[in-house]
Amino acid sequence: MKLILENIKELVQVDPKSRLWVAGKSMSEVQTIKNAFLVVQDELIEDFGPMEKLGLADFEGDDLIMEIDCSGKMVFPSYCDSHTHLVFAATRELEFVDRIKGLTYEEIAKNGGGILNSAKRLHEMSEDDLYTQAMLRLDEIASMGTGAVEIKSGYGLTTESELKMLRVIRRMKQHSPLMIKSTFLAHAFPLEYRGKREEYMNLLINEMIPLIALDELADYVDVFCDWGFFTMEETDRILMAGMKHEMKGKVHANELANSGGVQVGVKYNALSADHLEFVGDEEIAALMGSETMPTVLPGAAFFLNLKLAPVRRMIDAGLPVALASDYNPGSSPSGNMNFIQTLGCLKYGMTPEETIHATTINSAYAMGISENYGSIAKGKVANLFITKEVSSYAVIPYSFGSNLIETVILNGEMQ
Ligand code: NIG
Ligand code: FE
Repeated sequence: MKLILENIKELVQVDPKSRLWVAGKSMSEVQTIKNAFLVVQDELIEDFGPMEKLGLADFEGDDLIMEIDCSGKMVFPSYCDSHTHLVFAATRELEFVDRIKGLTYEEIAKNGGGILNSAKRLHEMSEDDLYTQAMLRLDEIASMGTGAVEIKSGYGLTTESELKMLRVIRRMKQHSPLMIKSTFLAHAFPLEYRGKREEYMNLLINEMIPLIALDELADYVDVFCDWGFFTMEETDRILMAGMKHEMKGKVHANELANSGGVQVGVKYNALSADHLEFVGDEEIAALMGSETMPTVLPGAAFFLNLKLAPVRRMIDAGLPVALASDYNPGSSPSGNMNFIQTLGCLKYGMTPEETIHATTINSAYAMGISENYGSIAKGKVANLFITKEVSSYAVIPYSFGSNLIETVILNGEMQ
């Protein structure tokens, strides 16, 4: 099957060099082709260029050709959302109301709300129901432009429930057209392990991780290294256990305090260090020259009124930055990457170009897939979206709350 997109007003995020990430000053330049075509063969991008170079005659004789006229519309590579917790049992709007009335996120967590609340609800819900609900969320984010997503466990906390979550994610991988990566997340100490941290560490390292590895249920291991959650030393041990089982690390780091999480992540060549509200010169120095993608989660900072990660300083220092949604019921109940771009621009002083790199190629790197996703390059997977008729690409972050995406193509197929 050949799909030919014609008369594209502007083909955005073209990268013939297929860079694996884009850093520093280069983030402010996005390559585009005006009045372009793009050819998809089966699930891959076969060719693209200016319209005058499209030789339709070359395709005569090919069967099953579909042409789409994109006049006035733009084409982008799908968003890669490298950090979500979108398998969950219930929304947590009561905590949202409690916070409006003055309670803090930390106070809610201490009283058995937060992650522990989600764990309780997840324990009670069947695997089938979790799957059905999470698939609806995938449909929703796909319609808003996301074509690849990383999904974490971490609302299970017990071995049984963590495995249940990861099995749900595996089933989603089998049935969804989105590219999905799964991550085992050491998220919090359950109430019954208060004062018995070592026992829980033992369970994580000697039971959960080996069982997960045995069944190949997770691609990566992540740890919430922060004030009130896992310490640097505990994070180190969990990432080491993951490494022993060939699972690369990721970290939730420096959201609530200068936790040292960034440095531990870098030590283990973590794919990404995420959140980064409490980042200063030391963390920036640690990230420089590392293989770890600094990943900022504007949705969580917006929803929890957190101080903002120093994105401008990181980019000016020459670092790459990725943006992801953190879609979860407690700190960021939205997977809308268009809105994440808006927040990137308005709250973090990023240009629209910087947010395009941050939500495509850099976030693809943060989930280990940038060789095949995250930009328009020959041979990459044809995960694309076509916008409605728009005036320029800056109108996407500008039009917050609107969905300007008209057509979604995943693996070369219109959805
Ligand atoms: O990435 N920060 C830690 N974990 C999640 C939120 C967990 C929750 O509140 O349910 C996050 O923001
Ligand atoms: Fe998270």
